Amino acid sequence: MTLRFTRRQPLKPFNTFGMDVAAEHYCELDDLADLPALLASDVYRQNPTLWLGGGSNVLFTADYPGLVARLTLKGARLLETDGDDAIVEAAAGENWHAFVQHTLSQGWYGLENLSLIPGTVGACPVQNIGAYGVEVKDRIESVVCAQLERGGEPLLLSNADCRFGYRDSVFKHEAAGKLLVTAVRFRLSRQPAPRTGYGDIQQQLAAAGIAAPTPQDVSEAVIRIRSSKLPNPAELGNAGSFFKNPVVPQAQAEALLAEHPALPHYPAGDGRVKLAAGWLIDQCGLKGYRDGDAGVHARQALVLVNYGKASGGDIRALAQKVQAAVRQRFGVALEAEPIIL
Ligand code: EPU
Repeated sequence: MTLRFTRRQPLKPFNTFGMDVAAEHYCELDDLADLPALLASDVYRQNPTLWLGGGSNVLFTADYPGLVARLTLKGARLLETDGDDAIVEAAAGENWHAFVQHTLSQGWYGLENLSLIPGTVGACPVQNIGAYGVEVKDRIESVVCAQLERGGEPLLLSNADCRFGYRDSVFKHEAAGKLLVTAVRFRLSRQPAPRTGYGDIQQQLAAAGIAAPTPQDVSEAVIRIRSSKLPNPAELGNAGSFFKNPVVPQAQAEALLAEHPALPHYPAGDGRVKLAAGWLIDQCGLKGYRDGDAGVHARQALVLVNYGKASGGDIRALAQKVQAAVRQRFGVALEAEPIIL
């Protein structure tokens, strides 16, 4: 389809917080062949541009004054097999969960723990999505990008080039505004190797009486856990975890643990320790707390929700309140995960 720009586009359907804001200029990119024209257009050259995927990691506090370009590129295919491995490429605009289910149905395993994460394939490397003992970096072979300052010329980044970290990658730093993720290549396995170490998964499988789980069993267990703890954005606006789990120096973690032995914590490498932000917020008595229509989710304190009419500013004010409470009680700074605009 040819590229079409529109004005004053409502963004409510395109952000999972359900913020009722508009983009001054808007277009959808459903064909990579249109990218050079988009980059050469006056609208692009004269305005700041926000590339939007599933809108599940953004909090709009106001109308967007520039161009919102939504990536709707579609397609998933097997590129090659390498022994037991399958190298599978998916376009940036594919819905993440639908793609995970597609891989399982084809017998390409490895993404099952990442079932039901909102968003698109193109966003998955940016924040290195992770859940239940797997991070997507463990399954990414390479990332296909378009160079925005070179008319959209393609560039393939290897896994190492992406410099993945916890909820972090080169796309949040040096590559921000320069590289656009257009497709992601995954190294999956045709041999099932379920990862069931995460406590919640073990409990779910045990409760279902499954001793030798298949990847589909793990996917279903993850779907049940997420559905029981995390709000469905289609019903209650949210962007998943609003805060990252803070990573602190060993000495600070030890001091906190001496005072709060129940604080869930995990080794984070380099002598650092990751703390469960949900637990810290919960201990401040804020789980289920509500300021008008902005709330801390009642079943997972890491998630902020829009009960209907909260504005982006209301959610941001609540986030600041949560950050202040955790700083005061534990001396720990919480960093927001979504982009706040
Ligand atoms: N906890 C509480 N109270 C709460 C929430 C959590 O006490 O309100 C405790 C739990 O009991 C548990 C610990 O904190 O002992 C960790 O909780 P959980 O297993 O729910 O995981 P999390 O660390 O809070 C992270 C990810 C989630 C991911 C889960 C499962 C981040 C920022 N979040 O949450 O990702 O699903 O692990 O792997 O790393 C997301 O990014 O949107 C997301 C949901």
